[in-house]
Amino acid sequence: MCGKLGEGDSPHFAAGFGRTGPTGYPNLAFVPAKWGPSPGFSRTLLRRRRTAGRHMNLEDHLARLNRIGIALSSERDLTRLLATILQEARDFTHAEGGTLYSVEGDRLRFLATQNDALDRRSSATVCAAHEPDEYLPLSRESMAGYVGLTGQAINLEDVYRIPPDRPYRFNSGFDRRYDYRTQSMLMVPMKDAEGHILGVLQLINALDASGTIEPFDGRWEDLVMSLASQAAVAIRNVRLTEELKAAYLDTIFRLSVAAEYKDTETANHIRRVAHYSAIIAEGLGFEPDRVERIRCAAPMHDVGKIGIPESILQKPGKLTPDEYETMKKHTILGARIFDGAEAPLLRTSATVALTHHERFDGSGYPHGLEGTRIPIEGQIIALADVFDALSSPRCYKPAYPIERCLEIIRHECAHHFHPDVVRAFMARIDDVLAVRARYAPEGIAQPESS
Ligand code: C2E
Ligand code: SIN
Ligand code: SIN
Ligand code: FE
Ligand code: FE
Repeated sequence: MCGKLGEGDSPHFAAGFGRTGPTGYPNLAFVPAKWGPSPGFSRTLLRRRRTAGRHMNLEDHLARLNRIGIALSSERDLTRLLATILQEARDFTHAEGGTLYSVEGDRLRFLATQNDALDRRSSATVCAAHEPDEYLPLSRESMAGYVGLTGQAINLEDVYRIPPDRPYRFNSGFDRRYDYRTQSMLMVPMKDAEGHILGVLQLINALDASGTIEPFDGRWEDLVMSLASQAAVAIRNVRLTEELKAAYLDTIFRLSVAAEYKDTETANHIRRVAHYSAIIAEGLGFEPDRVERIRCAAPMHDVGKIGIPESILQKPGKLTPDEYETMKKHTILGARIFDGAEAPLLRTSATVALTHHERFDGSGYPHGLEGTRIPIEGQIIALADVFDALSSPRCYKPAYPIERCLEIIRHECAHHFHPDVVRAFMARIDDVLAVRARYAPEGIAQPESS
């Protein structure tokens, strides 16, 4: 789901994005070919694979295009999607290399590249030599710019012999950088259904059956354009989904920060509890999706504090019994915020808000649930929350040394906490302390962890 809660501001969610750039796109440099040759892969084998598709007729090609389209529309991970697009387009045209650019305002953004020849050399060279987030101006002087601006395909037999009447030049920087020789090239626009140009697909060095570079067959241009357009739509859909997800999670994070700001702790409390909870969930052997759901729901555990008076929340000393009764309502208030929500993340958030103060022995609130009748998510967040309350300064207490916190937790095993949860937590204590060191509580100069 949402990945790691990041440094800085919102839980901006690296999962499934790879490393993300400022706009949330992966800083893709080089995407390995999914079914591409491994470094030792021989030219002969390569040739055989290439020849296999060579004599397909138009109908086969269309059927294949259709299958590719379906495969692309079901891929949810952008990195894998880009790799699949390049691989399919290259297989289709027997191209040694391929690159994807997206049109972003008046620039072209380099998204991903594949090249079998460079793959066979040290891949370290290839990865290191590529700058992530490279941009090209969207102008007629570059070939990708020309295609991105005009929507017209370029098909050249040799990029070093561009007819002089063309406005664009070949940029030989790539060749020089990799000691490569680009010869034939097919560049097509990636258009959506309305004809907007979303990106450019570049294919280089078509290989014939013997592995010799040949021109790209002009009859394929339309098919490749059609493939590129399916790819453009697939990319846009993945991005929209990712943006939506990021916005949704960002909203949740802001809401929980707003609730906490009435309180004395900072956003780091939220981050720590989120990561502690995920560590415990992992330790319990939960599926990655479930772990991420818990990581993202954990920040919401105290969202009901938004309905508790500040005079109680920030009271420097002990609460009176009446004040404590009021305070306990933050569980029910929090769950009420998610009333009727259907999204799994929000349902987990409701569960966590409602049950994070229940205790294993049945002495907790609001309902005094006992043992396994308490949802495990609630028990996980309970331990994460209490450990954080113990090991951080609160307006009503100082931070306790870690050893003392762990003693209290061990002592509360099977009383306050589910024994499995305590075991999972203790087994991963190093990871817990690493999180604590990274998002250190305010007022703790030197975290006790090493
Ligand atoms: P919180 O500060 O986040 O504490 C969460 C839970 O950590 C507490 O739930 C309690 O189970 C545990 N905890 C916190 N400090 C200690 C401690 O010194 N020893 C032990 N053994 N456990 C501790 P609880 O008690 O239901 O409190 C819920 C929330 O009510 C607290 O969240 C805090 O915001 C507030 N609160 C609780 N007691 C006081 C208090 O004496 N004064 C003030 N101002 N607020 C309090
Ligand atoms: C592309 O990125 O290459 C086309 C799709 C898009 O920009 O959304
Ligand atoms: C919290 O658990 O929400 C923080 C409580 C506090 O900082 O007093
Ligand atoms: Fe709470
Ligand atoms: Fe809390």
